Amino acid sequence: MIFRSRYPALFLGVHMSLGHIRLFFTVSVLLSVSVPPLMAQKPVHLTIDASKPGAKIDRNLFGQFAENLGHGLYEGIWVGPDSPIPNIRGIRKDVVSALQALKVPNVRWPGGCFADQYHWRKGIGPAAQRPATLNSAWGGVVDTNAFGTDEFMDFIQQIGSQAYVSANVGSGSPQEAAEWMEYMTAAAPTELEKERTANGHPAPYTVGFLGIGNESWDCGGNMSAEFYLSQLKIYSRFVENDNPSQKSTNQMLKIAVGPGTPTTEWTETIMKAWQHHSWSWNIDGLSVHWYTVPNGWPPSTSSTGFGLEDYSKSLKATLFMEEFLRKQETVMDQYDPQKKIALVVDEWGAWHAPLPGSNPSFLVQQNSLRDAILASLNLNIFARHADRVRMANIAQMINVLQAMILTDKEKMVLTPTYYLFKMYLPFQDATFVPVAFDAGTYKQGTTLLPQLDAVAAKDVSGNLWLEITNLDPGKTVEIEADITGIMLKSAKGEMLTAPAVDSVNTFEVPNAVVPRPASASVKDGRLELKLAPGSVTVISLKP
Ligand code: AHR
Repeated sequence: MIFRSRYPALFLGVHMSLGHIRLFFTVSVLLSVSVPPLMAQKPVHLTIDASKPGAKIDRNLFGQFAENLGHGLYEGIWVGPDSPIPNIRGIRKDVVSALQALKVPNVRWPGGCFADQYHWRKGIGPAAQRPATLNSAWGGVVDTNAFGTDEFMDFIQQIGSQAYVSANVGSGSPQEAAEWMEYMTAAAPTELEKERTANGHPAPYTVGFLGIGNESWDCGGNMSAEFYLSQLKIYSRFVENDNPSQKSTNQMLKIAVGPGTPTTEWTETIMKAWQHHSWSWNIDGLSVHWYTVPNGWPPSTSSTGFGLEDYSKSLKATLFMEEFLRKQETVMDQYDPQKKIALVVDEWGAWHAPLPGSNPSFLVQQNSLRDAILASLNLNIFARHADRVRMANIAQMINVLQAMILTDKEKMVLTPTYYLFKMYLPFQDATFVPVAFDAGTYKQGTTLLPQLDAVAAKDVSGNLWLEITNLDPGKTVEIEADITGIMLKSAKGEMLTAPAVDSVNTFEVPNAVVPRPASASVKDGRLELKLAPGSVTVISLKP
């Protein structure tokens, strides 16, 4: 596995004693039967200050990642126009309508590690004439190239999203990337514009984001930061978006490769050079990758049938995202105090062991209530860092890693993470609002975690929203919240929880983990709310 040495053992959990293991099993059995409030505790008091708006929580923080990997694209999105599975021009209808409901702001494609071996020309033109190639990044399987640039753009348009394409820096050339961009975006009658038109797409595409390479320090070519910087300057200079509608407004943002470890040398090299960049090159974002791998590499936690030790270790590992971002931000602030360059977390999520029986190169895992809870913690961290962190892409969209959607032939199931993203819709482009509370403690063996996490924001229409995560799978928490700045009259919302932290949605039982109405009420202008053990709640607060 190429990533083996990537993450130091920063967050290895401490092993439990035998006594603790016994306790853990007892609790786990209770939880799988029901969700009892094991111990009553005093209501937790929250204060939301709606009069002190903070940064915008950019909608692009809710972006996704669809790599040519396993069944992410092929089968997950692309079934071909002749498939009995209902489709529009080869793209499955059920998946499109599920994704439309998420208002996915951007989709990163074609990789990942795959991007640095992708040659776009192999994926355009009549399907029968496209060459078969090998996907040597992911299992060496045969790639028909049936899903290429025009199919990706069709998919993006069907779900109503924006394209984030990753250019091949590792095994491609600046010329190849420049021509790809011209093929996608030229409106003037160049040879490449005519080729696109001949392929059935006369209108230039909009490309919102260009990633210049992927993990160039590892699978993208094992470059030093200095070597990558020289490549970055060349790609930034010559890979231009030619779409006239993107010249003054809606300009394509260029995103440089950043680190995938908590070290800062790479960021330092790029940002130091950027500070004095000339007219001939520029970037708008720096990408970082940080996965939740609870026991370190290689990923070993099971995505099904796990207990509270794995659960709490996963949450502990995920909370490291805060420190990871802060380290990079400190360096960025030094060279870019005006925060012109966005920090782009374009790969994040839980990386568990491959499901038994699956191709290990396809990175197939189930998705449980635990994954939804850890996604909420990451989204909240991004919201708290929204002045610098302005884009993120969960890995990945369908059938790979922490997926939104799982498919099996004609069957499709929406995961707990899908529902979590749906609950967070009001936070897209909302304005951060401070919320003060005592986070409390959830102790599992020797793992200490906050019991609660919360964010609040004002949506684009000025409505106030509160999100609260109860990390503790053993305790109901009562909340009382006061809101400065509005006289609260009504509160309603949804809660995502399940009988156990390892509860999953399956093709047979697709609704085990779905949002249900939350028990929220208002008394004398104060919000009263009951949080189930191990839950995520989003509430609309109306004056
Ligand atoms: O998401 C899977 C892989 O993880 C990506 O291809 C790579 O960029 C990262 O290491």
